[in-house]
Formats: sequence, structure tokens, C-alpha cells
Amino acid sequence: MPIPNDPWLESSDVTPMFPTLVWKLQLKAEFHQPMDERILAALEKEGLPRVAAGKGWQSEQNLHQLGEFRDLVACVERGTRSVLRFLRIGCDAFEITGCWANVLTKGASHRAHTHPNNFLSGAYYLCTPAGADTINFHDPRPQAGIIRPPVTALTAENTDQVVVRVKNGTLLLFPAYLQHSVDANASEEPRISISFNVMFSGFAENLSKPLW
Ligand SMILES: [Fe+2]
Repeated sequence: MPIPNDPWLESSDVTPMFPTLVWKLQLKAEFHQPMDERILAALEKEGLPRVAAGKGWQSEQNLHQLGEFRDLVACVERGTRSVLRFLRIGCDAFEITGCWANVLTKGASHRAHTHPNNFLSGAYYLCTPAGADTINFHDPRPQAGIIRPPVTALTAENTDQVVVRVKNGTLLLFPAYLQHSVDANASEEPRISISFNVMFSGFAENLSKPLW
């Protein structure tokens, strides 16, 4: 009960509005482990560098065109179809506009950013050692930060950041406008993920290219 049930009150309720949705899909181990091996082998072939501690690295943005990524592309497409159905969007012509690998070594982080001119963004997690297994999502309502009074406990209703834990085989899908960041890798092992963007084909082809 959000408001105490005082004698003067007939009823009260609270209505969440304009929710910000992040979809989290966990692939079965027997499916994603062989796929991950194929992807890692492809990244090695593409020149996955030995990245120095404290540094990050990103590949070219066309990995979705490589044969070794076919299964992952199929997962992204199936997930996207489900999201479009869930949102009752009556347009099913979409495409992956970019797909690239990210490596973050010990101490490396990724600042908050969005992926303009895309509808959905996402990430798939290949190597998520302990201490490098989260992603932060930031409140997309800048005006909500005008007043930030102290709170006695962080809750879903008063926080301006949500930390989502991921593991190998996790696929996240979220609105491309939603700011996200990655904390510094606290593990000795590199964190490796694959990022991607999805856009309606007509928009990407005719109006404007994605701005990553
Ligand atoms: Fe991103």
C-alpha cells in the first residue's frame, strides 16, 4: 500500500507509467558453449589483440556478416521479433545495423553512452569473469535528476541506476536510447562481449544511418 489506509481514504493505488524495459535471455549451455567457441575462434582470426591492462578494444562493426556469427544473429533476430510482438509494433522489417566485439581488460571501463538512430541495442556475453559481470543502466529521464533527495534505501522507484548481472550466454536487449555503462573490470581476466544494434530497415536504408 503506497499510501497509509487512513480513515478518510476509500482506496489508493500507484501506477507505473512509461516503463523502461530490458530483456534478458539466458541461452542454454549446450547451445551457447559451442557457439561461443566458434565466435572466439573467429575473433582470433579477425585479429583479437592482446590488449594491455587498463585498456579496451572494439572490433569492426560488421561481425554479423561472418558465418561464425550465424547462430548468434539468429538469436538476436528471434529475440527482436519477440520484443516487437510484445510492444505490439506492426513492422517486422528490421535489420542488424552493426555488430562488434568489446574487450575490457583489468581496470578498463566503458563510459555511459547510447546508440543513436537505432531502435534496439543489445549485448551478448562471452567471457564474464567475477568482477566483470555487470552492466549499468541509467535513468533515461534527465528531468528526474533535478531533485535528488537523500533516500533511506535504494529501491526500483528511487534509483537512477540499475545494475544488471550477466553471465556467459546472457543476451540483453534494450532500447537504443537507454544510457548504459560498464564499471572497471575488477578481474585479472578480460571481459569479452558482442554488442549489436537493430533498426527498422526502411529507416536505416532511406532516412539515416546508425550513429553507433
Ligand atoms: Fe553500448
